[in-house]
Amino acid sequence: MTTHAEDPPLENHHATYRPRVICRWILGLMILATVVLVTLAWVRFGTDRPTVYEDSVEHFKYGSTGGEREAGFPYWIWKALPKVCADYLPGEGYASLGMLYEPGKDLPIGVSKRRVTGIDRVFLNCAACHTNTYRSTPDGEPQVVAGMPANSFDLMGFTRFFFDCAADGRFTPKHIMPTIQALNADLDLIDRYLVYPLAVLLMRDQLMMLRQRFAFIAGQPAWGPGRVDTFNTNKVQFNFPMDRLAPEEAPGTTDFPSIWNQRQRQGMQLHWDGNNSRVEERNRNASFGTGATPPTLDRSSIKRMENWLLDAQPPAWPFGKIDPALSARGKDLYQRYCLDCHGTSGTDFTGKYVGTVLPIEEIGTDRHRLDSFTRPLALNLATVYAGYGDERFSHFRKTNGYANMPLDGIWLRAPYLHNGSVPTLRDLLEPSDSRPRLFYRGNDLYDPENVGFVSDLPAEGEKRYFLFDSSVPGNSNSGHEGPAYGTDLSSDDKRALVEYLKTF
Ligand code: HEC
Ligand code: HEC
Repeated sequence: MTTHAEDPPLENHHATYRPRVICRWILGLMILATVVLVTLAWVRFGTDRPTVYEDSVEHFKYGSTGGEREAGFPYWIWKALPKVCADYLPGEGYASLGMLYEPGKDLPIGVSKRRVTGIDRVFLNCAACHTNTYRSTPDGEPQVVAGMPANSFDLMGFTRFFFDCAADGRFTPKHIMPTIQALNADLDLIDRYLVYPLAVLLMRDQLMMLRQRFAFIAGQPAWGPGRVDTFNTNKVQFNFPMDRLAPEEAPGTTDFPSIWNQRQRQGMQLHWDGNNSRVEERNRNASFGTGATPPTLDRSSIKRMENWLLDAQPPAWPFGKIDPALSARGKDLYQRYCLDCHGTSGTDFTGKYVGTVLPIEEIGTDRHRLDSFTRPLALNLATVYAGYGDERFSHFRKTNGYANMPLDGIWLRAPYLHNGSVPTLRDLLEPSDSRPRLFYRGNDLYDPENVGFVSDLPAEGEKRYFLFDSSVPGNSNSGHEGPAYGTDLSSDDKRALVEYLKTF
């Protein structure tokens, strides 16, 4: 009592001071904890960092276009799916879809990786459709060529694999997480119990949505490796009612083209039907194929790829000496018959009609791809990148034929024509009723004699070669024939022309 009576202020002070200090401490700690947590979360989930490659070719083969930001598959789900849904693949892993693994590499060519929203995510880049290999002998080392058409990549099979797997009861954390663990994934507790299970569910929903939007693909004749229906897939992005397309619009199946030497292609009307004359627009439009949209496009990374493509060169003919006399004779014929439409040589693209469109009535090749690109699509494409200044598309046009294009690296661009319907150069110099009606696509074994890939027999045990049937809609091998196209020449002249084209 006395103490109480003697020191009331002190007592009083203590009584209020203590809790206040504690409160402040607690508050302080809470703020600190929040700051720490937010920072940790920011670091963990806010990073946006592509895997970087110093070398330009490596960057082209494995670098990011930004597509992973929105479309990217979580890395460990990508790794697990070929095991979880193995029965939807034609063989072992992504390689069975014609994706190419270089020694020591974990991801195939054409797949890039970026750490975003706290997860490593992967998606296709340009090289998925624009890089492939060739072999001189069945046991030979496959030679990788960046910029050539990805003849072995089965994009339709790839798409189907993910859609089928998503629609399957096994696309759940219950099935996928143990497979990821069995792969010795370096996942911490948050990843294992929160991030990845959630990612599985989100990815499944996303795929199910895309599966419905791209449902028209299931009704198309198989593209086979090295081909895609470029502009009908593009229409999905603008919400065209795909079940109500005019019958002549689909299918518009095309061969993947080569994309070297873009500097000299500036200003040319290109894409197979010559619908766009700007290199940068063609590149940005191509970025859709890699999942990148105006807000997600990684501009500096794409710029590096673009810069490399400006002067990228095809490799020289590697299969022994080109016969000088025969080639000289071929050169004469080429200058007489082909130069105006295809350029002076494999490195000099000057020619009266190069980079312009030849009317369909004159070229006479399959018109499906031409008809698949419609005026309404051209108009819609003019809205892309609207609000992004100069990036806005303004050069898409509806044309009435196919483009006269340069023939650089033509030996690596088989099968020929926009729909990849003619297996070799030698076959292209025959009138269409003498061209092979059925042949196999997807082999990288080279046929130096006829200039193209071996297409008569699938190698034993290989399931991935695809039987191309020129009677299927979109696959006609007619056209580019008659006196102007060299198909009436003697067989010695044809041999000479083919010999000369090896120098391109
Ligand atoms: C999904 C496969 C795919 C991907 C991925 C892809 N492309 Fe293409 N690319 C094509 C196809 C198919 C064409 C031919 C389009 C047509 O005319 O129908 C093409 C055409 C082109 C052309 C025009 C070629 C010409 O001379 O006509 C360029 C340039 C090009 N792509 C660059 C790129 C770049 C750069 C990337 C990466 C940002 C890329 N592509 C990603 C499939 C793809
Ligand atoms: C009048 C113009 C014209 C002439 C002449 C012409 N071509 Fe073509 N060529 C084209 C067009 C247009 C295409 C694209 C047709 C298509 O894909 O449907 C083409 C396609 C090609 C292709 C396929 C390219 C690829 O990447 O698949 C080759 C190879 C070719 N021509 C070689 C020749 C040769 C060799 C000659 C001469 C004997 C010749 N052309 C004469 C216009 C011409």
